[in-house]
Amino acid sequence: MKKKLFVLTMAAVMGLSLTASAEGEVANKDKPLVWFNRQPSNSSTGELDMAALSFNDNTYYVGFDANQGAELQGTMVLDYIKANAATIDRNGDGVIGYVLAIGDIGHNDSIARTRGVRKALGTGVDKDGNINSEPVGTNTDGSATVVQDGTLEVDGTTYTVRELASQEMKNSAGATWDAATAGNAIGTWSSSFGDQIDVVVSNNDGMGMSMFNAWSKDNKVPTFGYDANNDAVAAIAEGYGGTISQHADVQAYLTLRVLRNALDGVDIDTGIGTADEAGNVLSEDVYVYNEEQRSYYALNVAVTAENYEEFTDSTKVYEPVSNQLDEATSPVKKVWLNIYNAADNFLSSTYQPLLQNYDDILNLEVEYIGGDGQTESNITNRLGNPSQYDAFAINMVKTDNAASYTALLNQ
Ligand code: BGC
Repeated sequence: MKKKLFVLTMAAVMGLSLTASAEGEVANKDKPLVWFNRQPSNSSTGELDMAALSFNDNTYYVGFDANQGAELQGTMVLDYIKANAATIDRNGDGVIGYVLAIGDIGHNDSIARTRGVRKALGTGVDKDGNINSEPVGTNTDGSATVVQDGTLEVDGTTYTVRELASQEMKNSAGATWDAATAGNAIGTWSSSFGDQIDVVVSNNDGMGMSMFNAWSKDNKVPTFGYDANNDAVAAIAEGYGGTISQHADVQAYLTLRVLRNALDGVDIDTGIGTADEAGNVLSEDVYVYNEEQRSYYALNVAVTAENYEEFTDSTKVYEPVSNQLDEATSPVKKVWLNIYNAADNFLSSTYQPLLQNYDDILNLEVEYIGGDGQTESNITNRLGNPSQYDAFAINMVKTDNAASYTALLNQ
């Protein structure tokens, strides 16, 4: 066993030295690279950008299973409607109306969530073999073509389910998933057809909470989000309908762990599917690895009135992977990491605090860069000297833009 380890370590050392530059340093293009939260992909077709995902032998993506999560969110909303059918139709017109806040029409995760809700509620229409995910604008009369009216039978009564309105929540400067825009939208919608709105759904909690605070809390209209941020989980006690945990505690760990493993020259599964020496290991019910896509996906969990008390601290490290690594075998290394939008609720209130907890455990000295959510250059300008870092973790503004980063590493 020891011998095997030695051989493996030597191979790793040799592997690195083969690509070392004249000064004996590892070239930037050969350093470990992880994409997270926004998977390199074509924002129109969703097709994965495999060139970016396999930039070098130590490149990975870390995110969550978007389809599994989307289905959970749709089912959570549907179950709520069924369980509360007697009271949910506020104006008694036989139509259960909902509005939907869309995060980013070019982001696979946002698209999946829109589809998941439409699928569960029977409001989706087919487009090229998939549920159309375009925003409907306003559809109070049910005449739109990008969605259709669904029907739902509960206890012998048949209801119509209608997507009354949906829009991409993008602000005038171009930032997507914009909570303030969602707060304004619910103001506009409720003032013109408020009595028709029985349910509010959002692609994330940032926008969901903004709508809840602006209107639905006072009007006792159940509101559903995604992310299980602390404020949203706490709001369940005040009538927020529910949210989905995308297991950010597992994702933040994986984001840094794949870099750590590559830097140590150990098997990529160390401390992931295979326990490391400190005892860190993840079980199969919290993540999947897709080798072809070079992607790790955390699994989602629904958070509702029934179980929210277990989710009140979204920034707590996941216990099975909370053991300190030994500096002798995992010496301190420097990582450059960016958050695409410093104002994004999920990334700033949940993901980054988790990363900051894990970086100590994994002996990584991480420089955190916060972008403006609008332009890639605002971030890439701050990667002026990649040679100062041992590894990189990147969260793009737009999923098409991986090359803006890899170009800097190729120089
Ligand atoms: C989260 C959103 C967030 C987005 C940023 C998603 O996974 O659910 O809240 O705004 O990532 O890319």
